Amino acid sequence: MDWGMANRMARLIQPDGRCMFLPIDHGYFQGPTRNLEQPAKTIEPLLPYADALFVTRGVVRSAIDPAMDKPVILRVSGGTSMVGADLANEGITTSIEEAIRLNVSAIGISVFIGTEYEKESLLNLSKLVDEGEKYGIPVMAVTAVGKELDKRDSRYLALCCRICSELGARVVKTYWCDDGFDKVVSGCTVPVVMAGGPQADTEREVLEFVHDGIQNGSIGINLGRNIWQSEFPVPMIRALKHIVHGNGTVNEAQEIFDSVKAANGKVAALPA
Ligand code: 5RP
Repeated sequence: MDWGMANRMARLIQPDGRCMFLPIDHGYFQGPTRNLEQPAKTIEPLLPYADALFVTRGVVRSAIDPAMDKPVILRVSGGTSMVGADLANEGITTSIEEAIRLNVSAIGISVFIGTEYEKESLLNLSKLVDEGEKYGIPVMAVTAVGKELDKRDSRYLALCCRICSELGARVVKTYWCDDGFDKVVSGCTVPVVMAGGPQADTEREVLEFVHDGIQNGSIGINLGRNIWQSEFPVPMIRALKHIVHGNGTVNEAQEIFDSVKAANGKVAALPA
């Protein structure tokens, strides 16, 4: 691995081999989704606990202080919306020159395997890998399911993750699943991080699945809505950090959640 690539990967994946990415890219197809109406306000109390931000160039420029010391993973795919014909019909939205100009540590793109746009999204990933490798910028592939959340089973996710790593992604972001997640991770030749999906019913459910995913080989999380749509975002991110970087148990994480919540109340990540 060339120095630039190795340096960027080291900024993203911490010395303990784990990572906590905070995604705030949802607006690129969801618009001003709940609690992310004003991204700068949402991330302010959360940023100290995150290892990197996953974000589009529009939000980087409008909401992120250039003096921020956290690495940026730039979302560079899009072109669809919740109200459009098909979320899978994404293209590459941002050039590699723009990624270099923004001094990002990685670029991220969704692939939609099993859809009408499978080939196009996989060729977009391959093209992006070619561009990224030229300049030492790692690509994070996102195994997206669009609105079909029931697709999240281990056979499908293992297929997706392996294909992304075969095409050259340096990191793959996928969903956790309760049966066979170890096979999803072991079948992928690069590190796997977990997305969260829509908000779960309870905070404990999130702590449980993240703990299980880490036990089964995932190196970390890229969790958005289950943090910043929680009623208690700061207690949530601190509890998750204990699992990811502290090798903590679910009970320990729950105790952190409860005590930070009791001490700080909601610690608004919500726009005023
Ligand atoms: C949106 C994304 C998000 O980064 C990803 O889904 C993680 O966020 P969440 O935990 O809210 O699902 O890729 O397309």
